[in-house]
Formats: sequence, structure tokens, C-alpha cells
Amino acid sequence: MTRPLMALIFLLYFFPLYSGDDSSYRSVALSDYKSLCSQLVQPAGYPCAEHTIETKDGFLLGLQRVSSRDEDLEKQKGPPILLLHGLFMGGDGWFLNSARQSLGFILADNGFDVWIGNVRGTRWSHGHTSLSEDEKEFWTWSWEELALYDLAEMLNYINSLTNRKIYVVGHSQGTIMSFAALTQPDIANKVEAAALLSPISYLEHITAPLVRLMVDTHLDMVILAAGFRELNFKSDWGTVLLDNLCDRLVNCINVLSSITGENCCLNRSRFDLFFEYEPHPSSAKNLHHLFQMIRKGTFSRYDYGLLKNLRVYGQRKPPEFDLSRIPKSLPLWMAYGGNDELSDWTDLEHTIKELKSVPELVYLENYGHVDFILSTTAKKDVYDPMIKFFKSLGNSSSL
Ligand SMILES: *[C@@H]1O[C@H](CO)[C@@H](O)[C@H](O)[C@H]1NC(C)=O
Ligand SMILES: *[C@@H]1O[C@H](CO)[C@@H](O)[C@H](O)[C@H]1NC(C)=O
Repeated sequence: MTRPLMALIFLLYFFPLYSGDDSSYRSVALSDYKSLCSQLVQPAGYPCAEHTIETKDGFLLGLQRVSSRDEDLEKQKGPPILLLHGLFMGGDGWFLNSARQSLGFILADNGFDVWIGNVRGTRWSHGHTSLSEDEKEFWTWSWEELALYDLAEMLNYINSLTNRKIYVVGHSQGTIMSFAALTQPDIANKVEAAALLSPISYLEHITAPLVRLMVDTHLDMVILAAGFRELNFKSDWGTVLLDNLCDRLVNCINVLSSITGENCCLNRSRFDLFFEYEPHPSSAKNLHHLFQMIRKGTFSRYDYGLLKNLRVYGQRKPPEFDLSRIPKSLPLWMAYGGNDELSDWTDLEHTIKELKSVPELVYLENYGHVDFILSTTAKKDVYDPMIKFFKSLGNSSSL
């Protein structure tokens, strides 16, 4: 499809809906959602507490602390572990299969002090100290802020409560955040080890056909030019867009596959539950930053264009995140999939070459991008080896 045609289709989708009464265009406000603890964790019989933290730039994030069924939340013994969800997802993603299959529950069963991160903009975050969700400024961020503000604050908070270094587990965007944040010494020194599922820093060789199409047609720029700052597929326009994509072009499962790669091991009878929670909102700027990485093949800060780059960074091009600054002593574990069309092996190889630390790698030939969180066999394939790795580090004597 040519670029102007794609742009036109988008404008036809968006404008009739967007030009209407602004208050009616968002059907699901962030505040309409009850707590993650009460919806998904406590019903399964696990103790869960809600925490709210404030980032340096004023965002209020929800964090959940989960422990094993027979442990008292106030007397956690195991080491703290923080789970970082992917793009268009929230902390709920770690609890959407059965308790025996979902990482959030499995880690609690293994005695870890489990913390669930939720980045700004998701339905489990709690807005901002001064900005409302309806203001454009609320959505002026990309994964760079998620790494340097949201992740940094989550680690500070958990560290201040537990006095321990933290194990970090990231999926997809959660790995981009981790790589970027771990290049910063003051953040890295709060982390004991990191496990990265579908690791992403470079994105040049992404193969997912629908993503390639969106990148080639500059959909990110069309969205920004049309004035959108929030990307919410559960809003009225988002629902119309997804319905059109799903019904007219291909079915929704195929849309998922053409974005994430063929997933081997999802449980179709849980799809209604998945789509009740997913996708979460994110920002158009975040999508644009990710597409910049795909186009340029760099792992850099946001590119504002020459003039504003000079003003913001004092140089023509945005500074790169230097992966060699991640401490050599920081243990890294990574799992990647043969069918994952977002985390490509060529890009991962590029990442690994730049690291000083030598990661332990687990390859799963039939895994797509979403299998790492929702595969019915992920416990055996991914989580058991990951937990074994954490326990082998010798700081988990209380487990
Ligand atoms: C899939 O989900 C259904 C409904 O929750 C459950 O009964 C079934 O055991 C699950 N299948 C697998 C293979 O986990
Ligand atoms: C954890 O173990 C590693 C290696 O055994 C050690 O270098 C590190 O200091 C330990 N960290 C803590 C918090 O005990």
C-alpha cells in the first residue's frame, strides 16, 4: 500500500470519531479500573498489597506486592523481584493464565518477594500530580522516561523498603527499559541480576509484517500529525480501528501473529480474558521512538530532529545508550524465541556483542513474542530455568 493511501485510511478512521465531543471519546478511563490485586491476585488466594509511587516528573504509578499463599506480606523473607511488562500491556499480564502457569504466582510460590511494575499510562497507574489524562502533556514521553524515571523510581522504592538489591524480569518493552536503565550506574547498583524475555535494544531487523507495514507507511508520523498523543485501543476510535482490522482484513488472532510472530502455546479459551485487560494505553511518542529505532537501527534517546536535538542534547543526533556501560559483574539471563518477529536474533546478537557481561541464553525454537508471558508451558520452558539461574547466584539463601 502506498503511503498516502495508508494515511488517508487512517484519517478516515480517526477523524469522524475524534472531532466529536471530547469527553465521549474515551470509553475506558484509567480510573475506571479496580485494583490489580483485587481483580486478579487475591481471587487466586495470594496476599497482595497496592502501593503508589511518584516519579521525579510527577507520574503516580501503581505497584503490587505479592507473596506466597502461606506467607505474611509484612514478613517477606525472599529476595525482592520486579516484573516489567511490555508495550500495550500492564502488570496483569503476569497473572492471566492459571496460578500454576503464570510467572507472578510461580515466583511467589518460590518464596520471592514479588513486585509488579506498571508504567505511566497503563490502567494500573494513577495519573499525575498536576496533569490530567486529557492533556497532551500527560502523554509526552517514550520508553526513555519509562526507563530513567519509572523504572528508577520502582527500584528506589523497593530498595528503600527491603534494603536489598532487586532481581529484575522484563518482557519486550520491559527489556528496552532495563537495558537503558542499567547503563546508568546509580540504577544498576540497585539490581542484583536481570532476566530478559524477548530481549530488545536494537530493532533494525524486526520482521513482523504488520509492524513493517506500519513503519514503511510512517503510521507513527500520521498519528502524531493528526494530533493524537495517547494510543488507546480501548477508546471508541481504537475499538473501531481494531474491529475493522480484525473483521475486515484478518481475524484478531492473525493480527496478533502478524505483530508478534506465530505464538506456539497460547490457550485460546483464555483469549476473552486476555483481551479484557489488553491492550493498555501507551503514548504516540513512544510508538514514534520505537519506529525511529527500527528505521535507524540505533539504540538512542528520542530523536527530535536536528534543531531541537541541538537544543535538548547539544548535538545533532540523539545520544546513544552505551550497552558496554552495563556492569560486567551484573548477571544477565535471556530467553528468546525462534518465531519471535519483534526480537530478532540478528538484533539480539548486536546487543550481546556490545555487552561486557556474558548473558546466559535460552533459545525456544517455537516461541513467539507473547509465549514468554502467556504460553501454557512457559513454567517448564522459561520460568523454571530462570528461577534456577537466580537461585544459582548465591544471594537467595532464604529461598
Ligand atoms: C486453558 O484455559 C481453560 C480455561 O481457563 C482451562 O480450563 C484449561 O485447562 C487451559 N488449558 C491449558 C492447556 O492450560
Ligand atoms: C550477591 O552475590 C554476588 C556473587 O556471589 C556478590 O558479588 C554480591 O555482592 C552479592 N550481593 C549481595 C547483596 O549480597
